Amino acid sequence: MTNSSPFRYELLHADAQTSARLGRLHTPRGTVELPTFMPVGTLGTVKGVDIHRVRETGAQIILANTYHLALRPGEETVAALGDLHAFTGWQGPILTDSGGFQVFSLADRIKLSEEGVEFRSHIDGSKIQLSPERSIAIQEALGADFIMAFDHVVALPNEASVVEEATWRSVRWAERCQKAAQRSDQMLLAIVQGGLDPGLRRRCAQELVAMDFQGYAVGGLSVGEPPAEMYAALDVVVPELPVDRPRYLMGVGRPQDLIEGVARGIDMFDCVMPTRNGRNALVFTDRGPVRLRNASHERDRQPIEADCPCPACQHSRGYIRHLFQAGEMLGPILASIHNLAYYQRLMTRAREAIAADSFAPFREERMRGWNEAT
Ligand code: GUN
Ligand code: ZN
Repeated sequence: MTNSSPFRYELLHADAQTSARLGRLHTPRGTVELPTFMPVGTLGTVKGVDIHRVRETGAQIILANTYHLALRPGEETVAALGDLHAFTGWQGPILTDSGGFQVFSLADRIKLSEEGVEFRSHIDGSKIQLSPERSIAIQEALGADFIMAFDHVVALPNEASVVEEATWRSVRWAERCQKAAQRSDQMLLAIVQGGLDPGLRRRCAQELVAMDFQGYAVGGLSVGEPPAEMYAALDVVVPELPVDRPRYLMGVGRPQDLIEGVARGIDMFDCVMPTRNGRNALVFTDRGPVRLRNASHERDRQPIEADCPCPACQHSRGYIRHLFQAGEMLGPILASIHNLAYYQRLMTRAREAIAADSFAPFREERMRGWNEAT
């Protein structure tokens, strides 16, 4: 990060017992306290929760997806309405994912070449092309504060040669993204791939670090591998990353994965779990997840969580269960709000624990709580 960059990572405190770090990310649209959780607003909406409520959960930065917004409404339409901030009404920092991951998981009839990918839209079957340069152009038109390199993500487990080829292609594509990126008011992050091969992960990280990106993400994880393997990949990658830049673990995860990521030096997370699970009546608590559809909650007077300040927890579990049973839209909305608030409060508590040099006992206490039966 050069001095002229409007972005600055500030390390406030490094934990003595783990690799957890308390920091701040200064951006043109305000400061993000790290570690942070970014709610996912794939299509420019955090599903079911309007932007003011998202803010009230404590979120400081949200995520949107290049792939989805390019297909609908199209980046030109978003640009015609201002940019993603004007479009969504979220005036704080926004991060857009590059489309790499989404193309390879959602699109039909993918044709891959060194140049990029050609595929059919999962919405209307129309033919679309994405490349490192095109992804950056779209992300510049969308105008998020943080943009991601366009990468090639393969399913795991997979043949070593397939993972290796995709990893080095992702490195070459990251270099093209870096050349293509024009705007000084956007921070471009590279994405470390490498599957579950420690050597490949390390070499990928080293190559990308040599290219001097403003921030680094760890990708290709939480794709079905056991959690221990994801943590092992972080143990290899994070020590390779520069201490003066933000580190982002993409698409992760469960509350325990966030805490384990923080313990390994990760600063940023995003995941659909709070909203997707909320829509399915699964809510997170300090004593593990609770299934609100369970008959045991029919006459349950307790809130989802006793000390939770969120609007959902003004109601009983019995009431919210009824909303789900009756197919009322307020059920998924309230459960999503609670889950978003839970994730934000978890990150707040993690930051407080790091500041107080008590992150290790906090981590142990949380793991004990989540493993208790509810
Ligand atoms: N979201 C979750 N994992 C990934 C990844 O590996 N790459 C990208 N671009 N997005 C992701
Ligand atoms: Zn709540």
